Amino acid sequence: MGTKLIIDTDPGIDDAFAISLAAVSADVDLLGVTTVFGNVPLSATTINARRLLALCGRPDVPVAAGAERPLVHPQPFTAAYVHGADGLSGLSDTLPEPTRELESVDAVTLMVSLLEAADEPVTIAPIGPLTNIALLLAAHPGIREKIARIVIMGGGLDFGNTTTAAEFNIWSDPEAARRVLVEENVPCVLVPLDLTHRCAVDYEWLEKLAASGGVGGALTGLTGSYLKHYPKALGREGIVLHDTVAVAEAISPGILKTERYPIDVDTTFGPSRGATVVDRRRAQARAEHPEGTTPDNTVEVAVDTDLDGLRAFVFDRLSGSR
Ligand code: RIB
Ligand code: CA
Repeated sequence: MGTKLIIDTDPGIDDAFAISLAAVSADVDLLGVTTVFGNVPLSATTINARRLLALCGRPDVPVAAGAERPLVHPQPFTAAYVHGADGLSGLSDTLPEPTRELESVDAVTLMVSLLEAADEPVTIAPIGPLTNIALLLAAHPGIREKIARIVIMGGGLDFGNTTTAAEFNIWSDPEAARRVLVEENVPCVLVPLDLTHRCAVDYEWLEKLAASGGVGGALTGLTGSYLKHYPKALGREGIVLHDTVAVAEAISPGILKTERYPIDVDTTFGPSRGATVVDRRRAQARAEHPEGTTPDNTVEVAVDTDLDGLRAFVFDRLSGSR
């Protein structure tokens, strides 16, 4: 069996594609799914995750609900304007009803039990705000040794999407993001907007997936709110399946090209609150700079991929042709 994986998620249309990508992949051992507030409130993200696993025929995968709000400061607004009020273009209740009860334990407790029981280190793919991950690492510091790596959809090096400077997942809980990306000593891969936007899929890709029927066909039926939003954001026809790019890396290590950089997260209340501050100055130059002018911690940042190859990887698995 391939990658042992836990997905922490706020479905969310792109989360739906990402969760399904893992759930239909025979070479992925999807241990569990944990939910967090984000695109829409926790109650909606949680039923969406459960329904999506039912769609994928995965009653074996436990779902546990996590944080319903950020660590410290409230989330100013949700992304319902992008994903629809229920998180899935208003069509969540057209999906199959859950085929498994929601776990009685919370997300952190489920993650700890799955990590402790695993016979090898586990990959965690957070594709929503990082609140649950920050709580996990704060409450269970010893669990780090059971985490292979954390592959995060989040951040923007040259632009934001929720504010000028900040990407939604990081912006929704900057304190949690700083905890995970800067303060905790856990191997992280950051998959930022700069790459996910380049991985946008066009209408032909969506139409072919729709024609494949099955899971892929059902997912394309959930994209209505995205189809309204993304042409405005992209300036061209298409949609951005951000979370799917991160989960593709989580389940197929190396599908994305990464480079290691120092990183900080802006937790102030200025215009760049929630920005991921990635230091791309040349290492030789950084070495000359006075103490304290370069962030201490470094993460792998996903900077490139074979765009068509990634789109084909996702298509083949969601269409069932692989
Ligand atoms: O900025 C994109 C991210 O925010 C994705 O995870 C999307 O689902 C939203 O949560
Ligand atoms: Ca998400």
